[in-house]
Amino acid sequence: MTDLLDDGERLGREELAALQLDRLRHTLRHAYENVDFHRRAFDAAGVRPDDCRSLADLARFPFTTKADLRATYPFGMFAVPEAEVRRIHASSGTTGLPTVVGYTERDLEVWADVVARSLRAAGVRPGHKVHVAYGYGLFTGGLGAHYGAERLGCTVIPASGGMTARQVRLIQDFRPEVIMVTPSYMLTLLDEFERQGIDPRATSLKVGVFGAEPWTEAMRAEIEERFAIDAVDIYGLSEVMGPGVAQECVETKDGLHVWEDHFYPEVVDPFTGEVLPDGAEGELVFTSLTKEAMPVIRYRTRDLTRLLPGTARPAFRRMEKVTGRSDDMIIVRGVNLFPTQIEEIVLRTPAVAPHFQLRLTREDRLDVLTVWAEARADATPEQREAAARSIARAVKDGIGVAASVEVVDPETLERSVGKIRRIVDLREK
Ligand code: DLL
Repeated sequence: MTDLLDDGERLGREELAALQLDRLRHTLRHAYENVDFHRRAFDAAGVRPDDCRSLADLARFPFTTKADLRATYPFGMFAVPEAEVRRIHASSGTTGLPTVVGYTERDLEVWADVVARSLRAAGVRPGHKVHVAYGYGLFTGGLGAHYGAERLGCTVIPASGGMTARQVRLIQDFRPEVIMVTPSYMLTLLDEFERQGIDPRATSLKVGVFGAEPWTEAMRAEIEERFAIDAVDIYGLSEVMGPGVAQECVETKDGLHVWEDHFYPEVVDPFTGEVLPDGAEGELVFTSLTKEAMPVIRYRTRDLTRLLPGTARPAFRRMEKVTGRSDDMIIVRGVNLFPTQIEEIVLRTPAVAPHFQLRLTREDRLDVLTVWAEARADATPEQREAAARSIARAVKDGIGVAASVEVVDPETLERSVGKIRRIVDLREK
């Protein structure tokens, strides 16, 4: 395995720290000199790029938020002349303007390199066929995965999202070893394999590289068992690059190694912004170390996790699997809850399928949570009732929230074609 590592992965922890500081200082200067927003923000905070003499000094620099990216729409965060931008991506977001990101030629090279490194860590090897079912387009998933897989020396099948019956057909005919897709869409594919009478355990697939949305260990177990594959986690966000910011190694499956030679992570208290020590849970913040077109300085991801020491790649710290982002947190009568907590409960309930939705309504000025879970095709009415009771009890005992539970007929809940929408908010604003 070690002969497969790239130069970055061979660095010692101290060499890495020196490289990070050097790249960080360069990035701060680049942002200050070329982006009005950053110059003003640094000035307002009373800091200059040269004030960063150690990695810890980064804490003195101001954060960047999604709102800042929107306020400079479309190209206000670009640090190079527009003609040097080779590619643009954007994330739609649920409200308002999309956030726009840009890449120079070198940025695209680095991106392909980190995705290739991620795939290698996932167990993918040159010569493998990689079925990419992340959406192609402004979303970074499809093209990010695509160029990384090519860089590693794989054969890419650019299926993109949707047309589920055709996806199954392509997998049967082209026999890829690897699939890259959101975990929720993998479940849609699972249904389709079964509908077509094909045993999902008998496909050519060996590895699935899943990300772009939170998913749990329970979901990993479900996917691995139903497809007889290794399921590993890939993380990223368009503002920082796209997929390939962090990756789980197939040999340990113990959280995601952050490719710290390109993306410097911090975890901060989401309320005070104070930097937390490694091991403490908080909001993940990234500073890019090599990006040219759009350097990001302390970007607030809103993803909640903790930083842990490296294992399979000792120089790089790991981030724990992201099971919640502050955007998806629901507060029901004062109790905070993430959809992934419900996912774990639904997945260990035998009579229901791994499909669920959370509906929020308001009655007498109080929020009411209803869990809609889908019955498995062979579940009897008694089993369905028992499942509803057991989910309600687990939500009450485990999370501390009273929820009503509806176990609905098979094939009735909306299926994912990309990132799944778990929460349906029917409360009047
Ligand atoms: O989702 C990039 C990506 C594509 C990552 C394909 C992995 C695979 P955005 O659309 O900008 O970019 O959304 C980024 O998605 O801040 C997280 O909240 C969430 N997310 C991404 N990967 C994971 C993951 C892409 N592995 C946002 N686990 C991030 C949990 C994830 N959440």
